[in-house]
Amino acid sequence: MKGDDFPITTAEEAPVVEVDGLTVRYRTGARTRHTAVDGVSLRVEGGEIVGVVGESGSGKTTLGMAVAGLGPRTAGEIRVLGRDLAALRPAELRRLRPEVQVIFQDPHGSLDPRQSVRSGLRELRGLQPERTSWVSDEELMAQVRLAPDLLGRLPHQLSGGQAQRVCIARALLLRPRLLVADEPTSGLDVSVQAEVLGLLLRLRETTGVSVLFVSHDLSVVRRICDRVYVMLHGRVVEEGPAARVLEDPVHDYTRRLVAAVPGRRLRAAHAAREPQNTGSPT
Ligand SMILES: Nc1ncnc2c1ncn2[C@@H]1O[C@H](COP(=O)(O)OP(=O)(O)O)[C@@H](O)[C@H]1O
Ligand SMILES: [Mg+2]
Repeated sequence: MKGDDFPITTAEEAPVVEVDGLTVRYRTGARTRHTAVDGVSLRVEGGEIVGVVGESGSGKTTLGMAVAGLGPRTAGEIRVLGRDLAALRPAELRRLRPEVQVIFQDPHGSLDPRQSVRSGLRELRGLQPERTSWVSDEELMAQVRLAPDLLGRLPHQLSGGQAQRVCIARALLLRPRLLVADEPTSGLDVSVQAEVLGLLLRLRETTGVSVLFVSHDLSVVRRICDRVYVMLHGRVVEEGPAARVLEDPVHDYTRRLVAAVPGRRLRAAHAAREPQNTGSPT
């Protein structure tokens, strides 16, 4: 893998992402606004998997989309690799954009239904020829543990787990420093879920990619996240190492979230970490 020809370099110490006092308000009527994210600060270091948890409507997706530069920002600062997104010129923003890739809950919804896996990859390569030349389609498929013959398939010919791996492969092709994964396993069967989580853990080891992992599922977060932020009504109410926050929560809201998860599921998630289960090929 070539590592020296990237247009974006960053000071060794700059976190991959730093969010400072981010506020996002949506217009809900002629005079009304809804504050979906309210003064949130967070940080993701290189190689970290950081969870954002909270019930539906707490602002997780809004936060993730803002970090990816794909959603609105009303106030506050978002720095990616030390660069303030709002202060970048369009050409600089274009160069920075591939550094952050997004993986969504519904993999089939993210893929063009008329395009085979291979032609979808070809299209991405056409948009970013230098950045994507480091790997062949076949090697890329191997990185996400998919058989090369799936390259010829259309999305509807892929299972949910296979389609999510294809989405991860497409993101990886651009060699991002951060994946924003928004409920990436919530639509998958439990066994497939475990495989995709194992894949993300392995990719972190092999590529050093960081992950901002948005999820309402605490056992999934316990399984793969190093640190976690807990959101309630757009605010972060608790943050810390995943083990501490999920085993010994301080805030009432976190306690209630944890209490709602069957105890054996969190214990199983804990057990799955030690030794780190990296999943098996399919
Ligand atoms: N485009 C939008 N316009 C107005 N309100 C929105 C929009 N998107 C999300 N919201 C509202 O913002 C809040 C946070 O939503 P969201 O970020 O999707 O939360 P989560 O991902 O935690 O479920 C919710 O109350 C939601 O209804
Ligand atoms: Mg959401």
